[in-house]
Amino acid sequence: MAKILVTGGAGYIGSHTCVELLTAGHDVVVIDNLSNSSAASLSRAEQLTQKKLSFIEGDIRDATVLDQLFQEHSIDAVIHFAGLKAVGESQQIPLRYFDNNIGGTICLIRAMQRAGVFKLVFSSSATVYDESNASPLNEDMPTGMPSNNYGYTKLIVEQMLEKLAAADDQWSIALLRYFNPVGAHKSGRIGEDPNGIPNNLMPYLTQVAVGRRQKLSIFGNDYDTPDGTGVRDYIHVVDLANAHLCALNHRLKTQGCRAWNIGTGNGISVKQIRDNFEKVNGVEIPFEYVPRREGDVATSFADNARAIAELGWQPQYGLADMLADSWNWQKQNPNGFNES
Ligand code: NAD
Ligand code: WQD
Repeated sequence: MAKILVTGGAGYIGSHTCVELLTAGHDVVVIDNLSNSSAASLSRAEQLTQKKLSFIEGDIRDATVLDQLFQEHSIDAVIHFAGLKAVGESQQIPLRYFDNNIGGTICLIRAMQRAGVFKLVFSSSATVYDESNASPLNEDMPTGMPSNNYGYTKLIVEQMLEKLAAADDQWSIALLRYFNPVGAHKSGRIGEDPNGIPNNLMPYLTQVAVGRRQKLSIFGNDYDTPDGTGVRDYIHVVDLANAHLCALNHRLKTQGCRAWNIGTGNGISVKQIRDNFEKVNGVEIPFEYVPRREGDVATSFADNARAIAELGWQPQYGLADMLADSWNWQKQNPNGFNES
């Protein structure tokens, strides 16, 4: 068993990963500045697992806090989720994204180096692939210039980490390229709780279902896809969380820097998501077609063969679970972690 530092552990994917780490018997230390999350997710993770974790409310850009953390805890490896992820905001305030996502990662790896910790799992994204690649996307395909500044920060950090590992073979780094995480823990106690109007499809859809929003806007029905709406690879957040444990086991034993796609390999359209959500959950989802959203591609889904072969990971959940679990979380927590 290992002691794992989870940056951004109070967030959506981080909190689910904390549950899986604690369940597997690891010790967990979380650092999060709560800029996009609530500490309630961590107390609920503790309740779900009947285990304790250590929480430091702090910023990964604060070297003093990081040094103190590494002195107090004998960390074996780091899972690095902390970062900003709002695509639209990254276009309006690029420097905020460069500072947090790129600057924050540099500060973290410097502190890791000072502490002699060289095992890292990084939250990357399918957005790093060049848009001219046809799906299924595999890790040997070229990366490109992402259409937004958020994606750009992921590409820069990937490249930085690759160069770091090439220069110093003490490093062992996993770049996990997530496709579209959805769903929630089966209990409905933790889940995705975005601030303001959701950018992403699933939280928007569940907020329509719970009556917080009137109807779903489907961005474009004139794509070159079977029903004209965008096709994506939705992956259950618990499967995604478990991919981190598999990557961790792999990286604890090997050196270098390597990328793995984390998706199911199935392309599902927006209309299919909406229709299946109604069918699986028995709730009505009013919708309208509106023009395409700028920067969206028609189709993106993974070739996940490398993760299955090398990490010993396998997604367990299908679309019906993703839709049922997203709804179960939203229904039980209509206002997210804000219970008032
Ligand atoms: P999230 O916003 O729920 O979690 C990120 C967490 O990091 C939040 O708790 C936030 O408070 C914290 N944080 C941000 N900046 C910080 C800083 N400087 N110091 C300390 N804590 C900080 O997002 P998520 O969906 O759980 O995503 C986790 C990671 O996965 C992010 O890096 C994101 O870019 C990446 N990712 C997410 C998706 C997705 O669709 N959700 C897809 C691909 C990659
Ligand atoms: C999915 C599909 C939309 C909302 C984004 C980031 C990516 C990664 C995951 C972090 C698309 C359509 C959406 C709505 C809609 N994040 N849609 N109505 O754009 O695939 O990926 O999140 O790394 O970097 O770009 O996800 O959930 O926003 O959209 O019709 O109200 O749903 O057009 O086809 P996306 P999404």
